[in-house]
Amino acid sequence: MSALLLGDEAPDFEVDTTSGPIRFHEAIEGSWAVLFSHPKDFTPVCTTELGMTAKLKDKFEARGVKVFGVSVDPIDDHHAWIGDIKDTQGVALNFPLIADPARKVATAYGMIHPNASDTLTVRSLFVIGPDKKIKLKIEYPASTGRNFDEVIRVIDSLQLTAKHKVATPANWTSGEDVIIVPAVSDAEAKEKFPEGWKTLKPYLRMVPQPK
Ligand code: BEZ
Repeated sequence: MSALLLGDEAPDFEVDTTSGPIRFHEAIEGSWAVLFSHPKDFTPVCTTELGMTAKLKDKFEARGVKVFGVSVDPIDDHHAWIGDIKDTQGVALNFPLIADPARKVATAYGMIHPNASDTLTVRSLFVIGPDKKIKLKIEYPASTGRNFDEVIRVIDSLQLTAKHKVATPANWTSGEDVIIVPAVSDAEAKEKFPEGWKTLKPYLRMVPQPK
């Protein structure tokens, strides 16, 4: 199966989770979603990642994003591990953790990279839009924990640029100036951004972030 690419439809699946069984498309209907894999339960980096994601619940909720973790471990392991996350990270798991021992999700999303490990998932993360299309895909090795503030930052950009004809510059964070996309003519820009913009080059026009 070829790799999932940006713009592809997120594959649907039926699985058991720590919050009960779900059909993925039904569970994310009309929402933004994050689906992220971790290699293995009862491992150190994964424990910190799930704790960090749980700590960011309010930020995900404020953006209308539903979060799902997944690994190839069985549901009983997930339930047993949750206590360790609370003990060590000071926060209870507050989003569904998918049990994927049959590797249905891991295979559909290309989360197993055989030259890294032929049994465990790498650290894959997908942001999925309300249209169920893949908007972002990142892949990290087992040895490197992800920066979940960066995930929130990218979601801010994805949600803004889905609504307005703008793009976000390097290291942008919400509230900073954005770029008018080159496909927008100056005439159209005058209608869309009546307060004006700064032209640094004809292709690089900076404008305050639209509300
Ligand atoms: C970890 O989460 O620390 C980990 C998991 C699998 C392989 C290596 C590290």
